[in-house]
Amino acid sequence: MTIMKRTHMCGDLRMEDVGKTVVLNGWIAKRRNLGGLIFCDVRDKTGITQVVFNDTVPQELFEKADSLRSEYVVGVRGTVAERESKNPDLPTGDIEILAEDLIIYSEAETPPIYIKDDDNVDDNLRLKYRYLDLRKKKMQDNLTFRAKLNAITRGYFAEQGFTEVETPMLIKSTPEGARDYLVPSRVNPGRFYALPQSPQTFKQLLMVGGTDRYMQIVKCFRDEDLRADRQPEFTQIDLEMSFVDVDDVIEIQEGFMKRVFSELKGIELKTPFPRMTWQEAMDRYGSDKPDTRFGFELKDITELVKDCSFKVFTDAIAAGGSVRGICITGGAGEYTRKKIDKLTEAVKSYGARGMVWIKVADDGISSSVNKFFSPEELQNIADAMGAAAGDLILIVSDKNKVVWDSLGFLRRHIAGQMGLLDDEQYNFLWVVDFPLFEYDEKEDRWSAMHHPFTSPRAEDAELLKTDPHACKANAYDIVLNGVELGGGSIRIHDRQMQEDMFHALQMSQEEIDEKFGFLVEAFRYGTPPHGGLAYGLDRLVMLLTGEKSIREAIAFPKNQAAQCMVSEAPGIVDETQLEELGLAITLCKE
Ligand code: AMO
Repeated sequence: MTIMKRTHMCGDLRMEDVGKTVVLNGWIAKRRNLGGLIFCDVRDKTGITQVVFNDTVPQELFEKADSLRSEYVVGVRGTVAERESKNPDLPTGDIEILAEDLIIYSEAETPPIYIKDDDNVDDNLRLKYRYLDLRKKKMQDNLTFRAKLNAITRGYFAEQGFTEVETPMLIKSTPEGARDYLVPSRVNPGRFYALPQSPQTFKQLLMVGGTDRYMQIVKCFRDEDLRADRQPEFTQIDLEMSFVDVDDVIEIQEGFMKRVFSELKGIELKTPFPRMTWQEAMDRYGSDKPDTRFGFELKDITELVKDCSFKVFTDAIAAGGSVRGICITGGAGEYTRKKIDKLTEAVKSYGARGMVWIKVADDGISSSVNKFFSPEELQNIADAMGAAAGDLILIVSDKNKVVWDSLGFLRRHIAGQMGLLDDEQYNFLWVVDFPLFEYDEKEDRWSAMHHPFTSPRAEDAELLKTDPHACKANAYDIVLNGVELGGGSIRIHDRQMQEDMFHALQMSQEEIDEKFGFLVEAFRYGTPPHGGLAYGLDRLVMLLTGEKSIREAIAFPKNQAAQCMVSEAPGIVDETQLEELGLAITLCKE
């Protein structure tokens, strides 16, 4: 088939093009036959242009135009003319094309979803017909945005002396702590590769190998529960640098963010970004990724209520927990009993057994605990919370983690409900001084909060031997509007310290050899001090494009059940494939 070579894209033409003969290629977005006139909207990734077939065109051409249906793929030649009735909503809305020739490249069946940005179709249907979904302007804009971000990323880090290196995809398990995706090896029967959760170990080997500064835009795989900002297969901007301390890493990253925001958003960010310790983030925001665009900060009222007669509070305190609350300014009127009940239900998924509310009004205080507190006591709590008439106080008492998680969730959830999350405001923050270890209750053991190659802060190096679990890490997360955009650390490069670390994690020599033997061995042959960071690229695109889910930043994302709806992966494999791999399937009952 001959191609009618286009002269312009469908979003290009303006008044100054009037009189030109042009050719457009694209899809039919809409067709109307008004008797002697046929109007078509032709769409490509840049926009839409109106094309008119009027009664001066040959009969054959008019009939061909009349046969057009939505999503037919066409080439149109014609003359640009000023429109009689202009469409101010379209960039091309001042003009139209008076058609002189038409070629139909392919016909189309009625599409199962509308090609419209605001079409609220079921998510799984959108994902099944993703190739149709991708025809939407917004989706194409997101893909283009992501491609520009990739180009800026490569440009910036190349300027800073980073070398882009690809690391293997078929590897041994990485230390990121999620479940691995496994790939069986045909030539090594009974053995499996793991897909990388991140290139962590390899980027450290690159530092041992003298690469000095490494970067990669890389796919990572983690078999974990999906959320709006989590996919099983996602992309990192992964970085590692030799001979650096925390400030060096942070400075390079702030330069990167400045470049990205300036070039892609026209926003000049102010640096340095604020830094906050993990402890402060938890105490003030109940989260290690605080959203600082609004208030509702946590207040600890443990001291104030430690002798009260409300057993829920005193029991939590006696068990080593705390009592904390948030004050929702102006929330008393908006939050009815019914709405508060919903909030109480919601915090249960964070482990809270309940939630206390107090409403402050001009004519007194009401609360869910009137039976246990005198009006004076309630007033004291309200004062401690900084509450005034019209405010709503929400209090949770439990183990610190439950209290933080519950209130951290509530403040952001309520801010969303109250319309306080401004997408145009970008609040960056470094969270630093994370604990080096965290206690894993399910497994009843200590694990590395980041990964076992993260170093303790210099001032805590001795503690690693004596009281390891009190150590703070040389780790940092970059947080934007309540989303963890990236995280990293300065690594351990000293053999003795690495051994102390493994020791604190109660790892046996066998386990160390089996899991990380190759890295530990590499460190024997001259290791530069090094550190790095990885961004979640999908999350960065999500935030910069104002999307609510990283799926909108990914061409072919997985659905909630980690399935690719387009190709229907994961699929069933042939018996012969299994035989080749020396595998047989026996599905265990739960
Ligand atoms: P971490 O595990 O913190 O660090 O991951 C870095 C960043 O990757 C993004 N991310 C994800 N994005 C989408 N879906 C997921 N399932 C997902 N998991 C993580 C987040 C996160 O901040 N090797 C270390 C980095 C280092 O120490 O240099 C690492 O992978 O935005």
